[in-house]
Amino acid sequence: MRFNLFTAATIVASTHVSAQFQKRCNSLASRLFIPNTIFSRTTFVAAGTTLTFPDVDKTCELFSRPQLISADICRVMLTVPTSNRSRTVMEVWLPSNWTGRFLATGNGGIGGCIQFNDMNYAASLGFATTGSDNGHTGMNGIRFLHNPDVVDDFAYRALLTSAQVGKQITWKFFGRPHSKSYYLGCSTGGRQGWKMAQDFPDEFDGIVAGAPAFAWTGLMSWGAMFFPLIKNAGADFPPEHLWPIVDAGILAQCDGLDGAVDGILEEPSRCHFNPDALICAPGHTSSCLTRGQADTVRAVFSPLFARRCFMYPALQFGPKLLGKVFQNYGGAQFLYPDHWFRFAVFNDPAFNTTMLAPDEILFAQKLNPGGINTFSGDVSKFRNRGSKILHYHGQVDALISSLNSNRYYELVSKTMKMQPAALDDFYRFFRISGMDHCAGGPVYSLLFIGNAGENVASLDPNQNVLTAMVRWVEQGVAPDTIMGTAYVNQTKESGVDFQRAHCRYPFHNVFSGEGSFKDPENWNCVL
Ligand SMILES: *[C@@H]1O[C@H](CO)[C@@H](O)[C@H](O)[C@H]1NC(C)=O
Ligand SMILES: *[C@@H]1O[C@H](CO)[C@@H](O)[C@H](O)[C@H]1NC(C)=O
Ligand SMILES: *[C@@H]1O[C@H](CO)[C@@H](O)[C@H](O)[C@H]1NC(C)=O
Ligand SMILES: *[C@@H]1O[C@H](CO)[C@@H](O)[C@H](O)[C@H]1NC(C)=O
Repeated sequence: MRFNLFTAATIVASTHVSAQFQKRCNSLASRLFIPNTIFSRTTFVAAGTTLTFPDVDKTCELFSRPQLISADICRVMLTVPTSNRSRTVMEVWLPSNWTGRFLATGNGGIGGCIQFNDMNYAASLGFATTGSDNGHTGMNGIRFLHNPDVVDDFAYRALLTSAQVGKQITWKFFGRPHSKSYYLGCSTGGRQGWKMAQDFPDEFDGIVAGAPAFAWTGLMSWGAMFFPLIKNAGADFPPEHLWPIVDAGILAQCDGLDGAVDGILEEPSRCHFNPDALICAPGHTSSCLTRGQADTVRAVFSPLFARRCFMYPALQFGPKLLGKVFQNYGGAQFLYPDHWFRFAVFNDPAFNTTMLAPDEILFAQKLNPGGINTFSGDVSKFRNRGSKILHYHGQVDALISSLNSNRYYELVSKTMKMQPAALDDFYRFFRISGMDHCAGGPVYSLLFIGNAGENVASLDPNQNVLTAMVRWVEQGVAPDTIMGTAYVNQTKESGVDFQRAHCRYPFHNVFSGEGSFKDPENWNCVL
């Protein structure tokens, strides 16, 4: 059966419908009754409009770039209480060519930001779509201070509330309930998706969860370790001109492990790079590391323990990651852990996160505010309900170690006593080689997999994680691989460079050794 995201029966588009649609939209607020909710605006947005978001907090600019709206939408903006001292600001975008599907979008970082780019992506595909500010406005954690309800919102409740309200509004507006409900998110959004699968299994039929920020306390503590590591390295800090030497060393030791010397590590967890190989031979002083510099490199790629308790896995090896860590974390303590520990864990704005003590990390782990850790391996309720989850993680992610996703898959397998062949029925994990954190990539961009509007090469479910999820839920056809597309110079305008099918865990890609590594036919998923 040919896959068509938009079944003809559900789409009726004409200028006549559009006028009626506009009228219904303008009167929607008066027909809704959701207790204590403030409707700030309900507006019709015509296809072809470029929406801008001038009132949005400046720290949210990554997610509120101008959006060209491709379908007529009814845009609903509202504020919903989540407790007597917390609320979430949310939007619902109702497209005129609605497919009957509902989709909730997630958040990023420690925000605070409606991801309008994701809302536009989903609404343009005919989903009635919600987005929320996750319980507080802006890319910071200041409002966590002395307000555990705001922390609860961030951990799970703003998404849960906004999805439930969004479903009600969708029903009211279109006169019938949604057919299937979906979730799309990456990073903190990936964690939110897993939170729903673990603890709120009835909310979504299909979840696409990328680069999840789960094992949250471990992740925050790991993220906080780089700044003091760099700051205290002194003469052992490798200067910038040596970073490419480390990249070259990683590639020299590991690039060929998958059979192709192409600058991409298909299976970085099999790379055991030893920086000692780069230590200067006697009499040499350039293009090599001192022992102390090699130790600093080793420390960057080390797991985090607190009093012998394993907290978070090491950054996986890959090109350009060392430089990213030095650049991202070198100047000041990373905002997310800094705000998390000051405002959510210790409720003390003056708390200094520069040198987190092991006992402070273990305290935060145990406190687990709002259930933020999101690392339960039991998703049996979600499975039993028949829901599906597609998990993906870029293999050159400098912000969240992709190894943590492998660890979670193994945890689910162990907890539920299910081998991969059985997990495949409802949970599939794809490792996206060449992809950095949810987007971008250091060498080749095999990251065009449809996880966001800006990463779409095709709507073909073999090449798009979102339409793959729709096909899985509605037709029972699960994705075996996800074809990734690399564009020349990582820009679509420059044209397709090559494609490669990403394997689902625990399979990994191996080059046959024949022909070009740019031909997807020459790769196989093996165990
Ligand atoms: C909805 O309509 C717009 C404008 O005609 C179009 O660009 C978009 O692709 C359509 N999407 C669907 C749901 O057909
Ligand atoms: C707010 O709700 C909590 C329970 O969640 C309750 O203990 C508290 O008294 C309420 N405060 C006010 C001002 O109503
Ligand atoms: C935080 O602690 C570090 C060392 O642990 C110190 O260098 C820094 O000045 C402190 N910051 C503040 C704002 O006190
Ligand atoms: C790719 O980018 C480089 C540097 O920006 C430029 O020199 C080159 O012409 C670009 N190639 C293509 C095919 O666009």
